[in-house]
Amino acid sequence: MSPKDPIINVEDVRFRWPGRASFALSVPGFSVARGETVLLLGESGSGKSTLLSLICGTITANAGQVSVAGKDLSKLSGGQRDKFRADHIGMIFQQFNLLPFGSVFDNIALPLRFSPERRSRVGDVREDARTLCSALGLPDVLTEKASTLSVGQQQRVAVARALIGRPPVIVADEPTSALDEASQSTFLDLLFEQVKAHDTTLLMVSHDPRLGARFDRVVSLRDITQIERRAA
Ligand SMILES: Nc1ncnc2c1ncn2[C@@H]1O[C@H](COP(=O)(O)OP(=O)(O)O)[C@@H](O)[C@H]1O
Ligand SMILES: [Mg+2]
Repeated sequence: MSPKDPIINVEDVRFRWPGRASFALSVPGFSVARGETVLLLGESGSGKSTLLSLICGTITANAGQVSVAGKDLSKLSGGQRDKFRADHIGMIFQQFNLLPFGSVFDNIALPLRFSPERRSRVGDVREDARTLCSALGLPDVLTEKASTLSVGQQQRVAVARALIGRPPVIVADEPTSALDEASQSTFLDLLFEQVKAHDTTLLMVSHDPRLGARFDRVVSLRDITQIERRAA
């Protein structure tokens, strides 16, 4: 695939949560170019997390196509999608989803257990984890239990976990919502530094338009969920 091809491509997608008639997501077209940083804005309940889940392949569309790195996710089995996600996507969740009783190192190294491809890009795992931690402004915390860290520190651990083994895509679901404004800004500085250093594609969703200035492109969920497809 050429570098101009989108790394994320959503086309004519429709999705409904089973048993929930009141919500339907319909995306005629949305794509993210390789190396691009995109902020997707939408109110709470508008379907941001649902769209990210479709892109990560944790749920599958009722119709249409979701492709990541040229692969149509609907063509993969559930197990193949899990493997594909581990290889290609680093995920940062709103609640971080760290293993509370695991050490910081265990948490950061976790994705490598599911992805030999990502593991193969890392020499000494402990050394890489330490390098990421210091780049993210975390003092030497590798052996600490994740649950003993502050919220801001836990969030940086979640970022290190998403970045280890250099997945081509980072997907972040409202990762700053639990932080005060000063920590949000530091957190984004560090995330962008890492993303730019490795030419990683970043797709972040938020309800907060103030975050927009740092991104290559800001997209409103409302605009990409219009029924009429706009001319390319
Ligand atoms: N796991 C789920 N099962 C059933 N309905 C869900 C699930 N997750 C989200 N929804 C519903 O889908 C709609 C969109 O939710 P969501 O994608 O979480 O929005 P946002 O992330 O923008 O706040 C809401 O009506 C929500 O209740
Ligand atoms: Mg959400």
